[in-house]
Amino acid sequence: MDFEHAKRVGIEAIYRGARVLRDHFGRISQINQKAAFELVTEADTESEKQIIKTIRKAFPDHAILAEESGANKGNAEYQWLIDPLDGTTNYAHQLPIFSIAIALAVHDEIVIGLVLNPMDGELYSAIAGKGAELNGKPIKVSSIASVFKSLLVTGFPYDFDKIAEPAMKRLSICQQASQGIRRLGSAALDICYVACGRFDGFWEQNLKSWDKAAGAIIAAEAGAVITNFSGRPFSIRQKEILVTNGRIHQEMLTLLNLKD
Ligand code: IPD
Ligand code: CA
Ligand code: CA
Repeated sequence: MDFEHAKRVGIEAIYRGARVLRDHFGRISQINQKAAFELVTEADTESEKQIIKTIRKAFPDHAILAEESGANKGNAEYQWLIDPLDGTTNYAHQLPIFSIAIALAVHDEIVIGLVLNPMDGELYSAIAGKGAELNGKPIKVSSIASVFKSLLVTGFPYDFDKIAEPAMKRLSICQQASQGIRRLGSAALDICYVACGRFDGFWEQNLKSWDKAAGAIIAAEAGAVITNFSGRPFSIRQKEILVTNGRIHQEMLTLLNLKD
């Protein structure tokens, strides 16, 4: 398989989705609730349609797992993971911090990652083994060596009520140990911001595979270390994710596992 070609198709798809998101931004006529706190807009569904159409045209036999339309089984070897709007709550409130995330996995190993912020035009991309880029220029993680000097970012899942106590404990411990914590509202962007050194670490629980697949390969290619909270290597099926510049990883694992 020609990954450069697949990347170009993914980029075409991501820009088509981005056009939809920009066109609808601030003009959403209907916001639906998938669950108590989980929103979906016509922009999510229309962006997804455009992305899937573009990928299907080039790779009609590939499998697709997209947030709004679910799984479409094709050739089990190749699977595209699509989040057509990561940061829907921000989007619905006209906060211009959101992204589109597209990844290609081969037998569950992510080989291509693309994350675009349609509002500022930043396109993060990576092909396994070829490094990570921001708008075509190589990026790498920060070199900060202690949490004390780190700026961290995190997020909260929609089923926050189920993990509220440990999540708030971790937030409090990391806030006190670091220079600060941000909560931007787009996990894919959070991970890419670790990849390019703006943040030194990111953690979240209960993310879906489409939230993290693209960011994970981009961060890994930029030199990040990615594990769950027990230090086990990243897989898209894991419920917990910790992404750091590597140098603060052990310290972050210790902090996330502190009980009191
Ligand atoms: C959400 C965002 C958010 C994260 C949530 C995700 P969505 O994705 O990535 O930052 O904290 O856990 O579900 O619903 O906007 O695509
Ligand atoms: Ca998402
Ligand atoms: Ca989404």
